[in-house]
Amino acid sequence: MRECRVKDFFAAGNGSPRLVIDVEDLWVRRDSHYVLEGITFSLREGTFLGVIGPNGAGKTTLVKAMLGLIKPSRGRITVLGMSPGELKHELHHIGYMPQQVLFDPYFPVSVYDVVMMGRTCCIGTFRLPRRGDREVVQESIAAVGLQGMEGKPIGELSGGQQKRAFLARAICLETSILLLDEPTAGLDMDSQENFMDLLMRLKEEKGLTVVFVSHDVNILARFADEMVCINRTMHLHGRPREVLGSERLKEAYRCEFDFLAGKGTGGGEA
Ligand SMILES: Nc1ncnc2c1ncn2[C@@H]1O[C@H](COP(=O)(O)OP(=O)(O)OP(=O)(O)O)[C@@H](O)[C@H]1O
Ligand SMILES: [Mg+2]
Repeated sequence: MRECRVKDFFAAGNGSPRLVIDVEDLWVRRDSHYVLEGITFSLREGTFLGVIGPNGAGKTTLVKAMLGLIKPSRGRITVLGMSPGELKHELHHIGYMPQQVLFDPYFPVSVYDVVMMGRTCCIGTFRLPRRGDREVVQESIAAVGLQGMEGKPIGELSGGQQKRAFLARAICLETSILLLDEPTAGLDMDSQENFMDLLMRLKEEKGLTVVFVSHDVNILARFADEMVCINRTMHLHGRPREVLGSERLKEAYRCEFDFLAGKGTGGGEA
């Protein structure tokens, strides 16, 4: 029954790409001030969206609001035709790689376990994985090139291999949308290239829509179809060439200093 919501969503329409993410006048308050104000954009199926903005700009907050993990103070978010409240029953259609994955490097959790954790919402609480779950996990591990490393403790993998394992965890669902929060941060050039090749291959194979938060404008200039630049408010949305060539980009990054100085927070904390 629930499954039908996403299937119906993709089946409806005239065959042109569907609007899979629609954010309208989004305001989010943390503590005593607004960290997002009036964010509006939409994204069509199969698009790769790059999200940039200085530290503290609200990028992670935006991703978490899309997942329904943070409640907006105002505005509307629709993902796959659903509100965040409805989406919480359909989270297996969204693959999420958080900016920070906190784990004890000495805790003996294997690559296989980490990826299987991604299927928790499909398996259900207090249920054991079924054969289908185990197969999907193996396929996801193979898709990111970590076959043979299933039993290795996650803490013994290199940074690049760990990123691959977390990507496998994000795609081991019936994923339509990938929300990746700084997935290539800390990787060397080779590992970045490998990660991007892998991501673009998976995107094409599975027809994924990708939201990719990054400080690396070179990666986004190469791979993104569209970019948004935010710094509390929305500064730019367009093709990478338009965004990166815009005078308003400097304006967005200069705002960082006002923001850190506590000016213009709009929440009465100035
Ligand atoms: N749990 C929280 N409680 C209160 N304020 C928070 C919380 N998390 C983030 N913030 C604040 O929200 C603002 C936006 O933070 P966010 O993490 O979204 O920024 P970001 O653009 O992802 O930054 P970065 O590039 O450093 O990852 C910051 O001012 C931050 O201090
Ligand atoms: Mg962040």
